[in-house]
Amino acid sequence: MCGIVGFTGSQDAGPLLLEGLKRLEYRGYDSAGIAVQSGGVIRAAKASGHLRNLCEQTHDGADLPGVCGIGHTRWATHGAPTVTNAHPHLSDDGVFAVVHNGIIENYAELREELQGRGFVFHSETDTEVVVHLLDCYYKGDLKAAVMKTVSRLNGSYALGVVCADHPGELIAVKSASPLILGVGVGESFFASDVTALVGHTRNVIYLEDGEFASLTPDRITVFDCAGREINKTISRVVWDVEAAEKGGYEHFMLKEIMEQPRALKAAIEPRIKDGRIVLDGVELTAEQLRNIRRVVITACGSAYHAGCVGRYIMEELCRIPVEAEVASELRYRNPLIGQDTLVIVISQSGETADTIAALKECKARGARTLAIVNVVGSTVAKLADDVLYTWAGPEIAVATTKGYTTQVAVLSLLSVYMARKLERIGEERFGELVKGICSLPERCQRAIDLNTHVGYLAKRYHNNSSLFFIGRNLDYAACLEASLKLKEISYIHSEAYAAGELKHGTIALIDEGRLVVALCCYEALFDKLVSNIKEVKARGAKVLAVAQEGNRHIFAEADDVLFAPAIDPLLVPITEIVPLQLFAYYVAKENGCDIDKPKNLAKSVTVE
Ligand code: M6R
Repeated sequence: MCGIVGFTGSQDAGPLLLEGLKRLEYRGYDSAGIAVQSGGVIRAAKASGHLRNLCEQTHDGADLPGVCGIGHTRWATHGAPTVTNAHPHLSDDGVFAVVHNGIIENYAELREELQGRGFVFHSETDTEVVVHLLDCYYKGDLKAAVMKTVSRLNGSYALGVVCADHPGELIAVKSASPLILGVGVGESFFASDVTALVGHTRNVIYLEDGEFASLTPDRITVFDCAGREINKTISRVVWDVEAAEKGGYEHFMLKEIMEQPRALKAAIEPRIKDGRIVLDGVELTAEQLRNIRRVVITACGSAYHAGCVGRYIMEELCRIPVEAEVASELRYRNPLIGQDTLVIVISQSGETADTIAALKECKARGARTLAIVNVVGSTVAKLADDVLYTWAGPEIAVATTKGYTTQVAVLSLLSVYMARKLERIGEERFGELVKGICSLPERCQRAIDLNTHVGYLAKRYHNNSSLFFIGRNLDYAACLEASLKLKEISYIHSEAYAAGELKHGTIALIDEGRLVVALCCYEALFDKLVSNIKEVKARGAKVLAVAQEGNRHIFAEADDVLFAPAIDPLLVPITEIVPLQLFAYYVAKENGCDIDKPKNLAKSVTVE
């Protein structure tokens, strides 16, 4: 969702801001704008639609001279994606320009109050109240005006501010929306995430909620909400700019699918030492684990689907009740969560609003919280009691791939670790599972290599308007993700179904030529799945099966087959999802879809 960038230094700000916004495009947006301060004046340009419109309009930023400015990509919430609603918003006297990510929840009352004081609103956005508040409270002291303004705001906000009276200075404010500061040599930056910074600096400062900062080319000063200066640590980002580029692939999604063997290696290898599982700093003693009565896994979208896989694996191995629930539901019920509950929160970005809210709710109820997160220093990572990073590297495509598989890999490691500590599995089974997990990077590569025909199958099936994914047990858990992958990038309706449920209603929708994708890698239930395949075929369906390599029986049952390499039964979702990610990718490509930036979607859903 909305992306923010800010730059102050000695280079032209316009082109740099546009470049930063380009790197944030993946977050999802429908308009964009920049404002550059120079010689006591702020000049702004905005455009609706693609960022290229803004680049054309400003001659790649050259029309806005100056070395200090802010930029924004907007994902519309309050008001249509028009030029008027696009950020930055300027005060009527032109002294302030503001960009904002998040939602100002009390904007309606602030708007009314400000209108009463004579301020004229031009847009429908919640953000515009911020710029008028600054204008209202500014009496020459920028810091004081910022503090007073922020004290009036409820909701979530990352703000970037420039003031015409303060040449070369940027203000950054963070409260429940992401904002990271970049420390350069003679230049300073801020951005919604590190992908916009790593091309310039890998030295970053993670702001905490309630903090704000003043940035000049040579100095970054961070304050707490009371205005006291605080010392912040400068962290080093571990990956470089190439990791956030396409590297010769046509789409980020394809690159990220292909990166999965490497990502899985990074998630797994450092955690296996001399055949034992070492979970970074996370210490879960046998006694603590014995006191856990239930495990609740919560997340959104694909991260929730990873949780659904984790539920099967963890419950099977640990013999503790494990539930998976979408965070947007969990946060608004009155869940039975207490000190005897381990809550596992999963998020690639670590900034998903519902996931953060569910995590806070569970913490407030006394649960121990453990986060599985990709983005270092993100809100979820900071809030949880313990963190296991997935180390997948930057994920740019909106449709997650390596984010999901590394989440499942980390959940598998955690489950095996817990099961052994609880003595629910013996040394032999522990050894088998560790071996299986260690083989995942190579098995994942094999899953890519085995399915060179997937593009051909996509050509055959891309015209289907609606299809079903069916499976049982872990195959069913993988269906959830396979179905989402296809629908979010190809806009084809699809549903994931527990194969045994088909007969209870949905089979009515199976007709001549309907595509059913049958996941049959969980071999203990293969025969049951074959019965379901026969049922749908008897009603005219075409069946594309995903089976384990070497399974010859499947040829007699299915019309077409994708393959996943053999692996421990508990790990099949990680290998069988790979050909289905590729299938979704090629179907979307056949249909001419904007694969990396599907319509209406944002990479990181930072509002409810
Ligand atoms: O960053 P998160 O993992 O918290 O994001 C959760 C979902 O928004 C995300 O998985 C979404 O469903 C993806 N578009 C799926 O590909």
